[in-house]
Amino acid sequence: MKVLVVGSGGREHALCWTLAASPLCHKLFCAPGNAGIAEDAECVAIAAEDIDGLLAFVEEEAIDYVVVGPEAPLVLGLVDRLSAVGVKAFGPSAAAAALEGSKGFTKDLCAKYDIPTAAYARFTEAEAAKAYVRTQGTPIVVKADGLAAGKGVTVAMTEDEALAAIDAALSEGAFGDAGGEVVIEAFLEGEEASFFALVDGDFALPLVTAQDHKRAFDGDQGPNTGGMGAYSPAPVMTEALIEETMARIIRPTVAAMKAEGCPYKGVLYAGLMITADGPQLIEYNVRFGDPECQVVLMRLMSDLLPALIASTDGVLSTFDLRWYEEPALTVVIAAEGYPGSYEKGSVIQGLEEAEGNSDDIKIFHAGTRRGEDGSLLASGGRVLGVTAMAPGIAQAQARAYGAVDKIDWPQGFCRRDIGWRAVAREEE
Ligand code: AMP
Ligand code: GLY
Repeated sequence: MKVLVVGSGGREHALCWTLAASPLCHKLFCAPGNAGIAEDAECVAIAAEDIDGLLAFVEEEAIDYVVVGPEAPLVLGLVDRLSAVGVKAFGPSAAAAALEGSKGFTKDLCAKYDIPTAAYARFTEAEAAKAYVRTQGTPIVVKADGLAAGKGVTVAMTEDEALAAIDAALSEGAFGDAGGEVVIEAFLEGEEASFFALVDGDFALPLVTAQDHKRAFDGDQGPNTGGMGAYSPAPVMTEALIEETMARIIRPTVAAMKAEGCPYKGVLYAGLMITADGPQLIEYNVRFGDPECQVVLMRLMSDLLPALIASTDGVLSTFDLRWYEEPALTVVIAAEGYPGSYEKGSVIQGLEEAEGNSDDIKIFHAGTRRGEDGSLLASGGRVLGVTAMAPGIAQAQARAYGAVDKIDWPQGFCRRDIGWRAVAREEE
């Protein structure tokens, strides 16, 4: 098959690395890709959001299957457009991508189908939103309705913070169209966990569990980021919690989407809060997590491609995926300054030595490109995802940091404590 992966981050590198190993895939493209992806796929200079450009390329190259990495092209309807010209693709339709594209849509769906999530209200008028905050008290959470690249959520500890977040979204247009409406919801207390399932419209197949670290600095301090590292499995997700999450959240959502006339296909990523009352849905994403995808795919023993196609074709229930028992852990190396402003173009060295000949270490590229002289240059905020697998999580952590320390990139930084919760549990 000729396969096209859409996207350019660490998640897409992990997807390309995995798909390139599939015996079913005889030619792999990635649009637009990055310098690491270029070792597994032929990169084509088409942006992930250039739907017309992607359609033209797919027809010209007679691509058989498209795997969409990020949410934006899904929300823009890439899968619908491909399906209209008879090309199969992994990921939800635009209507089903509303699970990530509109927080209000998801909250209303949860309310209608009794899926556990924080109590909430939706507002387009700042004064009404503020009055609601005053009656509810704090802490309280204010969210822009639409896609805001992870920046649309304010967990407000004080009333002033909540009111400022409402003004930013509804009066000052801080999130553009994404912030024309806000969802205000109750603050949930507990440990966060990510949960992933492949879904084929009817049936949901859980993947191994994974957890990311959203804050920029050690000790889970500092600003929110896309994710500074991840590990799999996530010890917080016990077998009982996995079953409860499937029974109370994932399966009811899949059934609800079907009943609403927009059956969900693709990977469903539930952000959960494990509260005293059990798992509650914080949000849905309609794609793999990044960098969670890197650790999950590191542990996959089965061929990924037929599983993705089974999701598209609605035959997932006949499938089973096999996984390595060993834990995996990814340390993200980001450009100094991320998630704020940062420089691009600095030279990165030492990756070959860091990766060595080990099957248990893999460096996924998130934001890299080749300079004219062939040198490897940083070109994004999150730049590398150093991933290791080992018989225990502490060992995987040591192996990943051992590789990190061989990388020569003075302009980068990473957290030194990725996986600390899981390591502490392993020591217990
Ligand atoms: P989201 O983009 O919806 O995942 O929110 C970003 C982060 O805000 C989450 O990962 C949580 O840490 C936090 N958050 C969102 N909603 C809530 C909530 N209802 N209660 C507590 N924390 C929340
Ligand atoms: N790692 C969080 C995300 O992909 O949204």
